[in-house]
Order: sequence, then C-alpha cells, then structure tokens
Amino acid sequence: MDALFNEFARKREEIFRVILSLPEKGTDVPGKISLEKVTGAAGAYWQTEKTENNKALRKTVDDPDGFLKEIAPLYRQCDLFLPGVQITYRRSKKGKITRLENKGSRASAKETHNREKTAFIQEGDRAPFLVDLGVFTKDYKIARPMYDKYRQINRYLELLDDALKDFPEEEISILDFGCGKSYLTFLVYYYFSVLRGKRVKVLGYDLKADVVARCNDLAKSYGYHGMEFVVADVSRDVLTDRRVDLVITLHACDTATDFALHYALKRRVPYIFSVPCCQHEINRTIREGQGDLDLLLGHGLFKERTSALITDAFRVKILESRGYRVDVLEFVDFAHSPKNVMLRAKKTGKPKELPRELFELEERYGFRQTLLHLEEEYERKSGS
Ligand SMILES: C[S@@+](CC[C@H](N)C(=O)[O-])C[C@H]1O[C@@H](n2cnc3c(N)ncnc32)[C@H](O)[C@@H]1O
Repeated sequence: MDALFNEFARKREEIFRVILSLPEKGTDVPGKISLEKVTGAAGAYWQTEKTENNKALRKTVDDPDGFLKEIAPLYRQCDLFLPGVQITYRRSKKGKITRLENKGSRASAKETHNREKTAFIQEGDRAPFLVDLGVFTKDYKIARPMYDKYRQINRYLELLDDALKDFPEEEISILDFGCGKSYLTFLVYYYFSVLRGKRVKVLGYDLKADVVARCNDLAKSYGYHGMEFVVADVSRDVLTDRRVDLVITLHACDTATDFALHYALKRRVPYIFSVPCCQHEINRTIREGQGDLDLLLGHGLFKERTSALITDAFRVKILESRGYRVDVLEFVDFAHSPKNVMLRAKKTGKPKELPRELFELEERYGFRQTLLHLEEEYERKSGS
C-alpha cells in the first residue's frame, strides 16, 4: 500500500476524489467510502462520504493522508481521481497489488465537473449580506478570519441543495425561527432566488426589536423583495397562517426549536431544517438512580451532553411518528462548533400516534420535553 500512500501524497494537489471499495472479508465497514476535496476560492478541505441505512453521511477530515493510511488496508480497491485520469490500485485476494492508469477517463471528467459545483458561494459572488456580515471583504474576497464561517455557509447550502434542488414550484415560502442577525435567512433567500431562480418569500421571527429592524433595513437596501422580519416570541405569539414550504432554525435557543418544530408539524410543512442548540430543558431535571443511563449522568458535562442528545433524539422520534423522514447530519465539524447536529426532515407520510416510550422515559427519569407535550396537547384539542 506504500505506493498508494506515496502517490496520494505526491499528487494530493491534483487529486479531487478517492473512492475505496471492495471491503476486505471480515471487516465491518461500508461497501464504499469516498474522500472528496471540496474546493473553494480560499483553499480546499477534504470530506468523507459513506452511506449508512440509505443515508449519506459526510465528515470533514483534517488529515487526509492519515485517514487514507487508516482506512485503505480495509479495502481491496482504491481509485484516485485527477482531472482526466483515474488511477486504480487493487489488491488481489492473495495480496498482490496492481496499479492501473486510465487516461481520458469519462468518469473522471464527470467528477471534475461535479467538483466544480461543490462550493456554492465563491469569492467574487455578489452577495451583499456576506459583506455586511463580514464573511466577505468589501471587494467580495473571503475575509481570512472568516474562512470557517465560509465553510459552514457552503455546507449549509450543500445540505439544502441535497434535499431541495428539485423543488418544483416557482415560489417557495420559508419561515425562520429565531433568525437573529439573519445570516442564514439571507443565505437561504440568496440560494433560492439567485442560484435557483425562484420567487422567494421569507419571514424571520426574533425577540429582538433592534435586530429585526436592522434586518428589514438590509433586505430593503439589497432589493430583496419578499423578505420580512417580525418581532415575535415564537413560544407564545400568534404566528403567520400563510402557506409555508420550509421551516428553518439555526441555533434557536433551547425550547424555541420545539415551538418551531411544533408549528411545522401542526401545519404539515413539507421540509424542516433545524440545527438546535442550548438544549437545557432536560438537563435541569433529569435524575440519576434509574439504572441504564446512570453511567452517562454521573458528571456535569456528561449529563449536559446526554440531556442534549436525549432532547434531539426525542425530536427525531416525534417527527418520525408524525410522518416525516429525518436525517440526522453533522452540520459542521465538531472541532468548529459543538452545536453541530442538523435535523433535516421531509414529510413523507401521515401522522401517527406519539411514541409511548417517550412518555415512559420522561416519567422514569423525571424530565419533560416541550415538543412532546405541545404535540400531545394539540392532539388532545384537535381530537386527531
Ligand atoms: C443564537 S441566536 C441565532 C441567530 C441566528 N439564527 C443565527 O444562527 O445567526 C438565537 C436567536 O433566537 C432568538 N430567540 C430565542 N428565543 C426566541 C423566542 N422564543 N422567540 C423568538 N426568537 C427567539 C434570540 O433572540 C436570538 O436572536
């Protein structure tokens, strides 16, 4: 395998994709795993992709050489893709390694084309909100200290595009809960209107009047018609009854996420993208001494993380019970932010009963999860 590792190290600048396939017998690895270079104007980074339970899982890799050395021995074939060239290393069952080079490879040419489309926001793109948010400088260059943010933005668009690139209607209506300074709101508007050519209606809710006023001013100054920001407490105010195709939340604090999800479920919104944060609710009252989870509740930090995971796991179960297919995705690398789980949901079926085991868990461990009770109350009132 040394020849493979050396060739990868030597040609790393040109290689844009590596695919490992044909797992060795007796290994517990996916049938195929790829390592892809994501190229933006400010540089490149690598990410892996594998499929589990029909879901694509992607992860940023900081040390591609180390990754390859670790994973390649588990597979019998490794393909390196360079522009117009595909190099295949294959190990026979007897351990003999062969190297094949296919110049003018069509697969490789197609990959090159796909690669060019990977980074949605490129240096030079006239996205004025990126300048105002400091991601770009005034002349539309990436502000170097904001490179991580630039990566996040592209990652968000990648996940959005994955699910919604074929959205069939000419107009899309979006609701953002806890929009804050609205970098996401502007980004999503930009994606659908500029990159996808749709008519876009976006409504952003936030508690802070000054922030909302500034966002309205910015939208107006860019000529982003169809964008509107409203001061509202999403946990108690009456919210819009317009048609909504997509609900988004990015770090809407604690239970504000539950109110957003409940709104979306109640109104059968087809798509939900939610990156939760500050999941404090369960942490406040969950108790030890009930058995199974004790190991994960014994220290403050464990308890905090376990509670956050339980909160999101409850949300996923509830969404699924209401007829949504949910992907749980790593939004950004954990090293960049611990608030990195995205719940991406698509309505696929009819709502069913809330899972009884969630109520049992609550009772046993002494906590209360807001979304479960919002849904329960709604079910009771509407008799559904
Ligand atoms: C951490 S910020 C995230 C802002 C924005 N989504 C972003 O990612 O840049 C959370 C925002 O949620 C808002 N928020 C929290 N609870 C809310 C509620 N009950 N109703 C409306 N907005 C709320 C806060 O005012 C704050 O601006």
